[in-house]
Amino acid sequence: MTRDGRRLRGRSRRTGTPRGSGAQPAGTALRAVGLTRSYGRGESLLWAVDRVDLDVPAGQTLAVTGPSGCGKSTLLQLLGGLDRPTEGEVWLGGRRIDHLGERALAGLRCRSVGFVFQSFHLMDELTAAENVELPALLAGSSPRAARRRAAGLLDRVGLADRARHLPSELSGGQRQRVAIARALVNEPLVVLADEPTGNLDSAATRDILHLFDELRAAGQTLVMATHDERVAATADRVVSLRDGVPVDDTRLADDAGAGLGALLSWED
Ligand SMILES: Nc1ncnc2c1ncn2[C@@H]1O[C@H](COP(=O)(O)OP(=O)(O)O)[C@@H](O)[C@H]1O
Ligand SMILES: [Mg+2]
Repeated sequence: MTRDGRRLRGRSRRTGTPRGSGAQPAGTALRAVGLTRSYGRGESLLWAVDRVDLDVPAGQTLAVTGPSGCGKSTLLQLLGGLDRPTEGEVWLGGRRIDHLGERALAGLRCRSVGFVFQSFHLMDELTAAENVELPALLAGSSPRAARRRAAGLLDRVGLADRARHLPSELSGGQRQRVAIARALVNEPLVVLADEPTGNLDSAATRDILHLFDELRAAGQTLVMATHDERVAATADRVVSLRDGVPVDDTRLADDAGAGLGALLSWED
């Protein structure tokens, strides 16, 4: 299908969309308006994310799902200010971020967004504790406060006894728990996790999902991209993408949450 065909349908479908509407509604952690990212040009022009409108209420756990190449990673990178849209807006905590300068955006990412990646992205030469401390130091924490927060978070993810280990001395699941502790160290508005269990076996996957469930209970806003429907089923809400376009948006749980229920019934 050409994008022009989609564009016409999209425009008529979206007549009520408050484009460029100023502040996002109270209680919204993250908002995308007409969010679009294209790659290439001419014959090779590709719409990785195609006019996505999305509101993520504070405290919601949202799974973005769909087959490989549907635009999940691109969407998360746009939402977290790691990439810039071709068109459209991103709002984070009531502030429009897509047109910020590079320095302001880097500061905002550091303070307000916690990223978790499939391949962990820890610093190999730093210990678990140092990896967790680093973003706190970059955000202006004193070394002592950073150490204290890192120790508390490593305890929270069950790795107090691994604080002095290098990533190479940890299992995949342990590395991802360090990465989650690092993502939380600056108390971000949102945690964005891109295929957080993609490199993990099922036991480690369950550990990570339990940890996410604790974050959810603590009111942390979390958006995760996953192609694994069982992982997506632990979220409050699932948005499915095809060719960069949301094709389904399903609320799985009320605020009391059924995420852990989905986890506990997960046997393999
Ligand atoms: N840097 C890039 N340059 C060109 N095309 C890209 C780039 N990044 C992603 N794409 C394309 O955009 C589409 C969406 O990719 P991606 O967001 O990585 O999907 P997913 O995470 O769902 O697998 C794919 O067709 C992919 O090939
Ligand atoms: Mg991806």
